[in-house]
Amino acid sequence: MLDNDIEKTVVSEPEIETIIQRLKPELTRDYETKFPLLVGLLNGCVPFMSDLCKRLDFHLELGFMDVSSYHGGVTSHHDVKIEKDLDVPVKGRHILIVEDIVDSGRTIKAVMDLLHYRGAESVKVVTLLDKPGGRNVPYVPDYIGKHIPNLFVVGYGLDYQNRYRNLPYVGVLKEEIYTSEDLEKTKNSH
Ligand code: IMP
Ligand code: MG
Repeated sequence: MLDNDIEKTVVSEPEIETIIQRLKPELTRDYETKFPLLVGLLNGCVPFMSDLCKRLDFHLELGFMDVSSYHGGVTSHHDVKIEKDLDVPVKGRHILIVEDIVDSGRTIKAVMDLLHYRGAESVKVVTLLDKPGGRNVPYVPDYIGKHIPNLFVVGYGLDYQNRYRNLPYVGVLKEEIYTSEDLEKTKNSH
């Protein structure tokens, strides 16, 4: 049913599995002795965090934050807002932030600054997708699943108006799904 709304696939289910298998040895090498705290950024991180952490065979802890720069539409707002905070102390911890996508870089920068300020020993980022074309803050994530062009994508955690997060792969929506207002914004942002 959700499939009918998708124009084309950008990252398929088998490709996601391949990405996770590629990230696993890198993350194991860097974190297996560090008992890291994986900090997932809600709600987009949920499918990726779940699949990734099941593949990591060393001790780690899970924590979640909800920080939003997008408010359900297709363009980025200038404010980053903390909707839900972590309930685990970060002082002295090695933190690995788990993101669905890095676009402007504003969200990740704000969260990294906050965790450093709170005394984290190290803060790195693993993101399923990277859209370097969307940056307005210079930033390169530490572990990247896949680079994608400056397109608005949904699925596997990524939403349009809070829908499509449960699609098991990442794709581009058909034009007719967008509200006419959002369609204008998508066109203007490219
Ligand atoms: P940034 O602060 O611009 O890097 O925004 C990152 C956040 O914006 C991500 O965590 C997503 O929630 C959202 N986002 C960015 N690009 C997309 C997209 O193509 N589809 C859906 N959400 C997106
Ligand atoms: Mg997000």
